[in-house]
Amino acid sequence: MKTLAQAMVMVVVGTLIAGGALAQFAKPEDAIKYRKSVMVLIAQHFKSMGAVVQGKAEYDQQAFVANAEVVKMLATLPWEASLEPGSDKGDTTLSPAVFDKREDFEKTARSFETATAKLAETAKGSDFDAVKAQFGEVAKSCKGCHKPFRK
Ligand code: HEC
Repeated sequence: MKTLAQAMVMVVVGTLIAGGALAQFAKPEDAIKYRKSVMVLIAQHFKSMGAVVQGKAEYDQQAFVANAEVVKMLATLPWEASLEPGSDKGDTTLSPAVFDKREDFEKTARSFETATAKLAETAKGSDFDAVKAQFGEVAKSCKGCHKPFRK
């Protein structure tokens, strides 16, 4: 029995590693809810950093790094859900442009991932001006995707 259980764990772990952490959506509404939830979380943690960058909140490096790491991780999540067929209809602002310009959308998503990863890295250093500059790059990246890919 023990070996069977072990074998099953191996299969599950193997599947997780091979497949990444992709969510499966039973219906388009689930994909919509998923990506909007992730965007809300991204926005919340991004806003916390924004307050610091704008001098409206005190700079606590540890907290800033933690927020930047959360955004870096979240930045990898919403894209699969954004390409779910039929999910441009309903309670959503996703533009059908994501389907027509899929490659552009994916490129925009990848550059956002790169920008957020760089922000997390920069935040660990001691150059706060560099942190501010990179925060600005990420903010540009939000707009750079919303403009073409939201309606
Ligand atoms: C590569 C594309 C892309 C990037 C980059 C991106 N977003 Fe979005 N965002 C979307 C799409 C697509 C939607 C629409 C989701 C929907 O309505 O189904 C959205 C929706 C949102 C929403 C509305 C969520 C809701 O409840 O309707 C907020 C808030 C948001 N994004 C914040 C941000 C912030 C802040 C950033 C940057 C730190 C960002 N986004 C970066 C594509 C992107």
